[in-house]
Amino acid sequence: MQNILALDQGTTSSRAVLVGHDAKILGVAQHEFKQIYPNVGWVEHDPYDILTSQLSSAVEVLGKANIRPRDVIAIGITNQRETTIVWNRDTGKPIYNAIVWQDRRGAPLCEKLTRDGAEDTIRQKTGLLIDPYFSATKISWILDNVEGARAQAEQGKLAFGTVDSWLVWNLTSGKRHITDRTNASRTMLYNIVEDRWDADLLNMLNIPESMMPEVVWSSEIVGQVTTSLGLGSVQIAGIAGDQQSALFGQLCVSPGDAKNTYGTGCFLLQNIGNKFTLSQQRLITTLTCSPQKKLEYALEGSIFVGGAVVQWLRDNMRFFSSSPDVESVAASVKDTDGVVFVPAFTGLGAPHWDPYASGMIIGIQRSTQIGHIARAALESIAFQVADVLQAMNKDTRQPFRELRVDGGAASNDILMQFQADLLQIPVRRPAELETTALGAAYLAGLAVDFWSSTEEIAKVLGGDKLFEPQADRKEMEARQAKWQDAVKRAGGWNR
Ligand code: G3P
Repeated sequence: MQNILALDQGTTSSRAVLVGHDAKILGVAQHEFKQIYPNVGWVEHDPYDILTSQLSSAVEVLGKANIRPRDVIAIGITNQRETTIVWNRDTGKPIYNAIVWQDRRGAPLCEKLTRDGAEDTIRQKTGLLIDPYFSATKISWILDNVEGARAQAEQGKLAFGTVDSWLVWNLTSGKRHITDRTNASRTMLYNIVEDRWDADLLNMLNIPESMMPEVVWSSEIVGQVTTSLGLGSVQIAGIAGDQQSALFGQLCVSPGDAKNTYGTGCFLLQNIGNKFTLSQQRLITTLTCSPQKKLEYALEGSIFVGGAVVQWLRDNMRFFSSSPDVESVAASVKDTDGVVFVPAFTGLGAPHWDPYASGMIIGIQRSTQIGHIARAALESIAFQVADVLQAMNKDTRQPFRELRVDGGAASNDILMQFQADLLQIPVRRPAELETTALGAAYLAGLAVDFWSSTEEIAKVLGGDKLFEPQADRKEMEARQAKWQDAVKRAGGWNR
């Protein structure tokens, strides 16, 4: 029996997921890896941690499910986006750690770009707002700060890649230096209207074009595994940034279809079809996966800290020892007792785009307990989603009638109910929350004719759970206004 292997390389863990022809998950293996915080606002990963955790998860899931590599018909890769790796083409060795999407070190360069009046050009070409979140200023930082990097780059010796590129390069023993369009669209260097690396932007940021990977479609055969690590010689047939992969995994393939993923961050994406349109509400426009090999776009509201706030309560505050326990701790109290938690640990994304905002807990009193803070942390996730959803409603003038959700934290019933209450629309949760991995599996499976169409896949899905709004609209509006007041107070604090 044949299967698809999805490699889901996320911010805090690498996962491997085996998917059968009935779109059911046959096995999952996962390895967390180290987060490195060398400086305030800096976040790095060791590129070899990324690689080894991903490969060992892949080998492990095959072993667990008792599947031979030759029974895997194709691999689909999905990954944390924007995270930047620069390596030497001859040795294959990175010249610096991976600079993670959450890292804010590019903020001064972003301010300079804004002062120089580049905002409009960047927006018209890339659909993005100027922010250190995207790869461009991370690449510049490496070229300007790693000894000898600039000279090597100018001699064509260095390769840049997001995590998908790094994985494919290593899986193919350096034969393929590629990325897909969804990942390219997160670099702030890819022209998503003209479908090419943009020479003006590369010049503006002083980045040689020779560093850039070849850009491929998200659903096509792009190479074959050549490592001798127990994966045989499977073909790589799908690549997508994790949020676009989740959008595809939810089969949001028509204009108006949207989903929100509650992962490390939260990402609300709405398919807007084949017309490049800019947001008036400080959301971004990005490329989606198109098995038809056509440019298609989505509006995106990017929230930097979602489920990560629960990890912070677990690891830094030691409020509980495993993430799902947040639900019982939050349920130990009936409300937040006035506590509001702004988890701006790495600045704020959409719609604020403030790299200098700080995390903040406000409203603490003598009566405040762990449960109140845990509940406020969960609510902060929903408040942020409500802010971007309302911005998206204003942009499209077609208000959401329900919200499709996925990702690890979507399993939390308190959070989903509060989300429905706050939005005053139903929240729809699929039975299978691994939609990011499923998206990559579908993309690879469609490329090798494992599935013939998304309609064929849609037939086997089902079992959604619906959370209906129960709270009073006026009360929820007042709570959100209070939240927005707190967000203002956290703004600019780290400047
Ligand atoms: O843009 C960052 C995003 O791709 C990270 O996703 O799943 O690690 O929260 P995740």
